[in-house]
Amino acid sequence: MKISVIGAGYVGLTTAACLAEIGHSVRCADNDEIKLALLRNGQLPFFEPHLEYVVSRNCNAGRLQFETTEKAVAGAEVIFICVGTPPLENGEADLSAVANVALTIAQRTTGYCLVIEKSTVPVQTGAQLKRQLQLYAGKGLKCDLVSNPEFLREGSAIQDFFHPDRIVIGVEREEAAAQLREIYRPILDQTFKCPVHAECTHTQKPAWIVTDTNSSELIKHASNSFLAMKISFINMVADLCEAVGADVTKVALGMAMDPRIGPAFLNPGIGFGGFCFPKDVQAFVRIASKAGCDFSLLKEVENINKRRIERFIEKIRQELWVIRGRKIAVLGLAFKPNTDDVRFAPALEILRSLVREGAIVSAYDPQATEKAKAVFPDVRYCASPYEAAQDAEAILITTEWQEFSNMDWDRLRKIVSRSLIVDGRNMFNPAELTSRGFHYISIGRQPAFSLDEDPPIAPSAELHSALK
Ligand code: UDX
Repeated sequence: MKISVIGAGYVGLTTAACLAEIGHSVRCADNDEIKLALLRNGQLPFFEPHLEYVVSRNCNAGRLQFETTEKAVAGAEVIFICVGTPPLENGEADLSAVANVALTIAQRTTGYCLVIEKSTVPVQTGAQLKRQLQLYAGKGLKCDLVSNPEFLREGSAIQDFFHPDRIVIGVEREEAAAQLREIYRPILDQTFKCPVHAECTHTQKPAWIVTDTNSSELIKHASNSFLAMKISFINMVADLCEAVGADVTKVALGMAMDPRIGPAFLNPGIGFGGFCFPKDVQAFVRIASKAGCDFSLLKEVENINKRRIERFIEKIRQELWVIRGRKIAVLGLAFKPNTDDVRFAPALEILRSLVREGAIVSAYDPQATEKAKAVFPDVRYCASPYEAAQDAEAILITTEWQEFSNMDWDRLRKIVSRSLIVDGRNMFNPAELTSRGFHYISIGRQPAFSLDEDPPIAPSAELHSALK
């Protein structure tokens, strides 16, 4: 099917490449000419594992090309709207990009078109979008408007697109649902040969959830806000664990065994960041307030999350006393591992606080350095964790990159001026790092301890990923 995807960002580019991979002919559009030129040259404007491979193989196969928005909507039968909806000052979603795309579609598309709203938008946006399309429609445009929210996690977006646990759509007409079902059929049936997870045993077929557009739009905000709430909940429990001498990793493990709770998103730390949770929670609170509903629960989720930064800085102050003039190594800048995205990243908030207090900061991240440098040039960016740790009086772990779990601790201990590690993502086993000669501070756990009956439960790789 001929498909146009408007917006070549984290969601749009993944959507365009994966739809091409399952056999569609896709035009991916963006209004940023520089980004278009980079993409036509095979260069991606951000890091997402496997995306470059899927984009290039579909460009080479002639199934994926990059166009301006005007060209991409002309003659399109199916249009996915994947443009950004960043937060406004008051916390509401900025829908101007969505409205502009609707205008372009209305003015340049004739005949029938299935318009699919994949950007994260407040409930009832679909109705507005439909009105815009009808109001400005040129001659003879007839369209169906469908909500189809994305559930892609940065760092695993390709996996989440090809092997989703559910596909949600909101429609006004059953015919629109049938068309979208055809578009997603290879994924719904898991009949395509996945180019990335060849050995994948994904026999689990995604759930196909058809609702009205309002419910579909709400599923997205409600899902992200619930996940954010789970994170703030475990962070709140972690603070209590510190106060009463308990171990939050063990508490999380005990909770996770209840299938109604589950292990995911019970990792305490310096809080949630990224371009989704912070803005979606904010937007959801605003949506509810405008509808006359009290979402103060989510306001507290936001407040708990905002306080994580100061609580972490307080831990550093407790160890270093005065921060001014101290040499501090910050390991991790991205808002989570396996991405270069630093938007709303807790690590950058911590960097800003330390620099504001006069610390001498050296920072390292495997992928996000360039993006961090662009928004915060006032620190020394290093090419390795060892370079950052040179003469450091504290090493901070602020993103749990797998690379950090393989560091050479003996080498580190020799180059730091003080063997202090403050771990904002509970990556390590307290007893292990203590045995290597470090004073190890983390979140919600006691300093190194050893239990007779079993080794301390620390987020080993499996547990850590299970608790994600
Ligand atoms: C999220 C949703 O998971 C995804 O379904 C939606 O489509 C987009 O938003 P993403 O923002 O890419 O995905 O990252 P996610 O893995 O959800 O993590 C968000 C933040 O929460 C990160 O800063 C992460 O470090 C933090 N987090 C996550 C925790 O602090 N603790 C956890 O246990 C899990």
